[in-house]
Amino acid sequence: LSATVTVDPAFVVGPVRRRTFGSFVEHLGRSVYTGIHDPGHPTADADGFRGDVVELTRELGVSTVRYPGGNFVSGYRWEDGVGPVEDRPRRLDLAWHSTEPNLVGVDEFMRWAARTGVEPMMAVNLGTRGVQEALDLLEYCNVPGGTAWSDLRRAHGAEEPYRVKMWCLGNEMDGPWQIGAKTAAEYGRLAAETARAMRMIDPDLELVVCGSSNSGMPTFGAWEHTVLTEAYEHVDHVSAHAYYWESDGDLASFLASAVDMDHFVDSVAATADAVRAAGKRSKFINISFDEWNVWYQKRAESRPPSGDDWPVAPVLLEDRYNVADAVVVGNLLISLLRHTDRVHAASQAQLVNVIAPIMTEPGGRSWKQTIFHPFALTSRHAAGEVLRLAIDSPTTGTARFGEVPVLDAVATHDAETGEVVVLATNRSVTDEVTLDVDLRGFAGLRVVEALTLSNPDHTWTATADDDSSVVPRTNGSARLTDARLGAVLPPVSWSIVRLG
Ligand code: AHR
Repeated sequence: LSATVTVDPAFVVGPVRRRTFGSFVEHLGRSVYTGIHDPGHPTADADGFRGDVVELTRELGVSTVRYPGGNFVSGYRWEDGVGPVEDRPRRLDLAWHSTEPNLVGVDEFMRWAARTGVEPMMAVNLGTRGVQEALDLLEYCNVPGGTAWSDLRRAHGAEEPYRVKMWCLGNEMDGPWQIGAKTAAEYGRLAAETARAMRMIDPDLELVVCGSSNSGMPTFGAWEHTVLTEAYEHVDHVSAHAYYWESDGDLASFLASAVDMDHFVDSVAATADAVRAAGKRSKFINISFDEWNVWYQKRAESRPPSGDDWPVAPVLLEDRYNVADAVVVGNLLISLLRHTDRVHAASQAQLVNVIAPIMTEPGGRSWKQTIFHPFALTSRHAAGEVLRLAIDSPTTGTARFGEVPVLDAVATHDAETGEVVVLATNRSVTDEVTLDVDLRGFAGLRVVEALTLSNPDHTWTATADDDSSVVPRTNGSARLTDARLGAVLPPVSWSIVRLG
């Protein structure tokens, strides 16, 4: 198969946003406890945070981290997690049928974020709680001092306010599984009132209202319309969440998951714009794609405990990712970048152990899953502006999405350094794609690096013992001749070509 792509610096979609490379730490399974936090680990700091995980998070190139949930936040009392650790209560976590020991709370998380060099993105509980508790948490975090909550933060050792900018107004409030789930009208009003009051404390916040939990929800579209009609003036972003997995051995459809993400983003943007037009509004609402990943939800590891068993940090959602999963993750990042005009933030769900690129053994090793690599490379090298490409690709039939282009790609151009980065996925299950990229709009380029992630066995997974035998490797076929880049992309592969 062969495909041609034209890249031209004139066709700009928008800036590469650092916030596209966000992640997510939820009090869920071993994400916090024995994930980022493991006081007995040889690399642990005074707070008990693992230094090796801090280093891997930096290497992954994570920009923002959403916290503390997820479904967890809808039953969370943030006050439980501050003050002397020995005085903190143990609570039932209804979302994951676990016990929350509250050894890590907002102050510890802020210290971890500062040490790791990531921007914290907080979520407030709009499931069991409301406007007042959201205001209390905001006052604790962002007010310099002189009030009860801000002085309590100072008494807990944080003299300076955290000045958290991005806040999620609840989580997946349309989901019947959510504690305190609501109708769109109920939630829209609560979100609007919470946002309005939060802005009275800090008008510069960026507020994210809950969109649908996924595009398959029965109320998808109608939910966004109703919620935004209520809350439009008071918020900046609407959330989108999407998880993909290979089911019934249908690899072809799974590899085309980004087609669904493209459609999801376009649909939410269109709905937001319809509300904008109907309300004669001038500002745009953009998308915070604050949960996305591959997640095998049907696997036993995703089932919470039951009955009288309420463990602390059980093994939950610990998916082991193969090469095809990594190719899909790379393609989902291509989709997010392509929509940089409307997707202003994104968080891969999640960071450590729970559907995660980073895995840890309690007290022991940390290692990288296959999905680590496309994220790290895209975050490290995508820079400047995202370019709109002209792609001429053969198609392949899929059971879920019909005919889809075999080749998907996006490019970025950094005018300051002159670097052009082409990210490409070959979604064919069986065939190589010979790629021909027209770069005549640029002068004097050469290939700096060409890497491809693939393996004859696309089901290969990394383990604690071997997380590096299938990493992206130099693609020796990449050649630039007369401003045309040629490269052969193996089936089920993700590639990055840097030109400068
Ligand atoms: O990321 C795992 C869970 O997926 C989150 O808690 C929830 O928001 C979503 O359904």
